[in-house]
Amino acid sequence: MAERDSAEITPWHVYASRRSFLAGIGAMVASALLPACLGRDSQVTQESDFCKSARANAAGDELGARLTSCEDITSYNNFYEFSFEKHDVASLAADFKTSPWTVAVGGLVERSNTYSVDDLIGKFPQEERVYRMRCVEGWSMVVPWLGFPLSSLLQEVRPTTGARYVRFEGLLDPAQMPGQRTRSFDWPYVEGLRLDEAMHPLTILATGLYGQPLPPQDGAPVRLVAPWKYGFKSIKSIVKIDLVEEMPVTFWMAASPTEYGFYANVNPDVPHPRWSQASERRIGELARRETLPFNGYGSEVAHLYAGMDLRKFF
Ligand code: MTE
Repeated sequence: MAERDSAEITPWHVYASRRSFLAGIGAMVASALLPACLGRDSQVTQESDFCKSARANAAGDELGARLTSCEDITSYNNFYEFSFEKHDVASLAADFKTSPWTVAVGGLVERSNTYSVDDLIGKFPQEERVYRMRCVEGWSMVVPWLGFPLSSLLQEVRPTTGARYVRFEGLLDPAQMPGQRTRSFDWPYVEGLRLDEAMHPLTILATGLYGQPLPPQDGAPVRLVAPWKYGFKSIKSIVKIDLVEEMPVTFWMAASPTEYGFYANVNPDVPHPRWSQASERRIGELARRETLPFNGYGSEVAHLYAGMDLRKFF
């Protein structure tokens, strides 16, 4: 992991002051995730204010792939609370109010607590982590996140012995989120991890990307990133984290249980019922590339699933 734990690149007070600055300017059916392989990515010609200040320590991932452009990461988004159209999310989310914001951490823990995002950023050093993100729809990106290990937060609240899973809940606010005014889905967005997955050093809570606080369309002010899983596990705009005993029913499991499982580990050998998962298109590139088991993180995470039939536990 050492190569991903690159140095803390933004002192938190600088980070926090930028956050408040940014705050100032600041009938889809169940089977809605579609293979967006004909995507209109890379069509953005005007550089956004966010991307004018983009910076990253790394030029690419540890496999030698270049970072996806800031413009693509911030204009090609899945965030159904705002829109089902990837290119509409950024404009519809532009005025999303992400400050003040709190994350309530509770359930089966000794020390439940409600943290402001500034608490989280102040308490846990922010690191740059360059991760591949593979969407279940068949496209992928390489993203320079800023964030901190979820394990740091969980260690602080001290899960009790009965805690086996972590349940994450996104914001429910139909007044701000037009997608939540449709009844196609059961809002809010919910995700979950097994406790050992949540404690894994690759799993982070991201608070920024390209050296700056997350823009709304990418899940401001705090989202999950578990890079060996399909992108839909990376729940955006989290308000609640609970340690629980039972496996949570996630947003996509509820929407389409035959298509989306709890584990959702990237697996080129298990096709989605409606399309293959053997290859993917890196946003910004034309040719497809092979999809790697566990999205290329197998040496670090495969042991978590020893003895499990990964076809059954998809
Ligand atoms: N989180 C919430 N709250 N709502 C969503 O619609 N979409 C998921 C995930 N997290 C989603 C979400 C999906 S399907 C993907 S691929 C990623 O976010 C996309 O992240 P990005 O837009 O930052 O690339």
